[in-house]
Amino acid sequence: MICMTISHSFSKTPGKPGQGVVVALTDEHKTLPSAIAELDHAASGWISGTLAKSAFKGKAKDIFSLALPEKTGFDHLLLISVGDGSGVDGVFAESCGAKIYKALTSLKAKHVTIFVETETPAAGEVAAHMAQGMDLAAYRFDKYREIQDEDKPNDVSVNFVLPDADRGQSLHDRLSTVSQGVIFARDLVNEAPNVLYPDHYAELIKKELTPLGVKVEILDDKKMEKLGMGAILAVGMGSARPPRMVIMQWNGADKKDEKPLGFVGKGVTFDTGGISLKPGASMDEMKTDMGGSAAVVGLMKSLALQKVNKNVVGIVGLAENMPSDRAYRPGDIVKSYKGKHIEVLNTDAEGRLVLVDCLTYIQEKFDPVSIVDLATLTGAIMVALGYEYTGAFVNDDTLWSGLEASAKATGEKAWRMPLDETYRKDVESDIASVRNLAKTERWGGACTAAAFLQHFIDEGRIWAHLDIAGTSLVKADTDLCCKGGTGVGVRLLENYVHNLR
Ligand code: BES
Ligand code: MN
Ligand code: ZN
Repeated sequence: MICMTISHSFSKTPGKPGQGVVVALTDEHKTLPSAIAELDHAASGWISGTLAKSAFKGKAKDIFSLALPEKTGFDHLLLISVGDGSGVDGVFAESCGAKIYKALTSLKAKHVTIFVETETPAAGEVAAHMAQGMDLAAYRFDKYREIQDEDKPNDVSVNFVLPDADRGQSLHDRLSTVSQGVIFARDLVNEAPNVLYPDHYAELIKKELTPLGVKVEILDDKKMEKLGMGAILAVGMGSARPPRMVIMQWNGADKKDEKPLGFVGKGVTFDTGGISLKPGASMDEMKTDMGGSAAVVGLMKSLALQKVNKNVVGIVGLAENMPSDRAYRPGDIVKSYKGKHIEVLNTDAEGRLVLVDCLTYIQEKFDPVSIVDLATLTGAIMVALGYEYTGAFVNDDTLWSGLEASAKATGEKAWRMPLDETYRKDVESDIASVRNLAKTERWGGACTAAAFLQHFIDEGRIWAHLDIAGTSLVKADTDLCCKGGTGVGVRLLENYVHNLR
């Protein structure tokens, strides 16, 4: 397969004579859009004739592929079907873009012209989302692969031809910042844990975001000790690589003192389980236990790239959970930054310890209008929702409707899960304030983990906790993502922030 680096443009007319591959939409009736009907005419009915004889049925997202005679000006035609047309939206268009990308990898094209003639949704929307689908599908994590010359990426220019080209371009300008955020998040999740440890990760965030105008502050272990952040520090104790907390501020609001939106991410750069050691099988996957933090960093990147007109603060807690003679143990009682004591009963329930010090800090320091935290927090959420849905624990209906709408708009599915007084009681300790393992142990583990976090959320604070343990990683290639980190959360939350007015 040939990889491609793609550049997108949008215009009302095809411009100079066509070359390379031409792409257009069709439907279940195998309708030829006007631009293709013209080519068909030039080619004396070659396209319609072949199409009629082919096995192509025109089901949604089916692709018809045909080499073209020279007089058409193009080498090759791809038709992708919208089926009966009823399901066409941004998510559908992204998946079409991904499918077209896949088909293009075997055609070795340098130039691609895509005609988009839809009316609902507007062609501009469909085209921009197709472009995003192509960009996301094109991502590979190949920095450690020795790539042969003949497999080097091909530069491909893709021109969308549509009546509302300006709308296409301006939406693409925004969506491409989102893709860049997603891709940065995927790179972080896929990076090896010997490379991406807390100190290096923190420096990487600073290097990436500072030039974009994000104010980045790093709290090192000494600073966190002074502040009394005993929870995140406990998790990092077993590692030779001490924890970090990174605070990222984007101040884009017209009113300088406008309260920010808050985002918090779990960044456990490797989770062995600590003294409560995990079993060996698939332990390598625990290099992705920083997916929540990657989403926050990727989100900050895209919001800064699009210079969003809002104040936003993101905080990530970075720590490596290792067993050693210095590691924290089951039975330890640690004092969190909030002052509440935590009874540690399982060192593998470390994410909640990392998060609560971040959550306390963001509330105390920034008084955000709302907080959304993201974390690969529990295996239990995967028992409940599998790989399909992010579990959303939300204490405010308005915040939930916003998140639900964004989940629908972006295809990053989320399912609301319960917060309940009983779960809160279940994580109260007999000898400290809270315990990190619920009395019911693993039953309802995602719910009791959320309840643990809730003990650190101020009364009246609008808050959502997204458990992305099942959605931050795919085990095999999908349309929009290759095996590995998905960058989940970036698209969802960018859409959420964009929709706020
Ligand atoms: N990082 C894990 C959760 C996880 C599991 C993420 C599988 C992705 C895939 C988390 O730190 C953890 O170990 N949670 C424990 C909590 C338990 C000890 C209460 C779990 O889910 O088993
Ligand atoms: Mn763990
Ligand atoms: Zn973990």
